Amino acid sequence: MNSGWDVLLLDCRLATLGRNGEPHGAIERAALAWKDGVITYVGAQHDLPGPPERLAARIESADSAWITPGLIDCHTHLVFGGDRADEFDRRLNGASYEEIARAGGGILSSVRATREANEENLFAQSLPRARALLADGVTTIEIKSGYGLDLENELKMLRVARRISRELGIGVRTTLLAAHALPPEFNGRTDDYIDHLCADVLPAAAREGLADAVDAFCERIAFTPEQTRRVFAKAREFGLPVKLHADQLSDLGGAALAAEFGALSADHLEWTSDAGVRAMATAGTVAVLLPGAFYALRETKLPPIDALRAAGVPIAIATDLNPGTSPLLSLRLAMNMACTLFHMTPEEALRGATVNAARALGLADRGTLEVGKRADFVLWNIERPADLCYWIGGGLVRSVFAQGRAQDAAIRNRS
Ligand code: NIG
Ligand code: FE
Repeated sequence: MNSGWDVLLLDCRLATLGRNGEPHGAIERAALAWKDGVITYVGAQHDLPGPPERLAARIESADSAWITPGLIDCHTHLVFGGDRADEFDRRLNGASYEEIARAGGGILSSVRATREANEENLFAQSLPRARALLADGVTTIEIKSGYGLDLENELKMLRVARRISRELGIGVRTTLLAAHALPPEFNGRTDDYIDHLCADVLPAAAREGLADAVDAFCERIAFTPEQTRRVFAKAREFGLPVKLHADQLSDLGGAALAAEFGALSADHLEWTSDAGVRAMATAGTVAVLLPGAFYALRETKLPPIDALRAAGVPIAIATDLNPGTSPLLSLRLAMNMACTLFHMTPEEALRGATVNAARALGLADRGTLEVGKRADFVLWNIERPADLCYWIGGGLVRSVFAQGRAQDAAIRNRS
């Protein structure tokens, strides 16, 4: 007879990321148990409520491995057609991201390739990128649309994102980013495109249950604060939470605008002012920092990290995985960059890729190892939690579990 847990894992070192007074919320000589994909025990092994064989159907040993919550990549554009290696070349030869975008390249070149790909093909192109994240410990991924820029192709992208979740058995949150760039057929008619987005694209995505949130690119090469506001007002009508690409290349007051709409997150933030930081703190909006894009664009303007810390704004770290400004297939590498480039501590970076990332997605059921949370976790080949930020690259994953199921086959089966 057992008390009904599916699996009890003994000999664990847990970085729970909860707040128990220890760095990383650590518990050594610990046990972890779950049932039906949900955690049922987290704590010291000697506090188990009975002999292991009475508690679970299966008992295993973690051989003292460090275990963290599954990592959460809360900002990606991983569904896209083609690549932009040619643009990488042009940037290396001196062209700037803005120049390339203004000349019809950049996002629009990915729009062409994404529109050309049928759904099957887009799925086949995108799946390996999701697998790469998973192989590095990611069990929840946010995926944005934004390379379709019309009804048919935006919905196609969101369906592909949902299919990736089903295929890999991991969590995917979808975000409608139809306000990413102006599609060529609307040249010179930006407000008409926003009308179309609000009248057709957003309502269709909402009605079909394809979007969990709505995002926009508020920037001088994209959409104005006023246009962003219209998109957000429409999202609110449909009960969808918002996020914003804010203050990446210039300060248009994006962070404050996001906060005004109670956004889950404001992302990038290199140019965010003190007023923007204060507004985010008041609204409880998470700051999502994207060191991959900062690095790839050789940005030198740092996001206001000290001000965010001082104001108590939760900071999340994400890959921003996209073909232009962040072809980055490892969240752990983004965490390393957050330490090296943004002067964050390894613990801040790990919280940024777990508990704070969950918050940036509005998800209360994951991000820490606590009873009642999803049994999403990773066993690592490391000596201490900070090693996840210290090692640059390499495979540190021993195994990944999503909702209590080992993902080894999904990881191995790389296409
Ligand atoms: O988050 N800032 C806008 N969107 C992406 C870049 C997308 C692209 O260049 O394809 C970003 O950096
Ligand atoms: Fe982005």
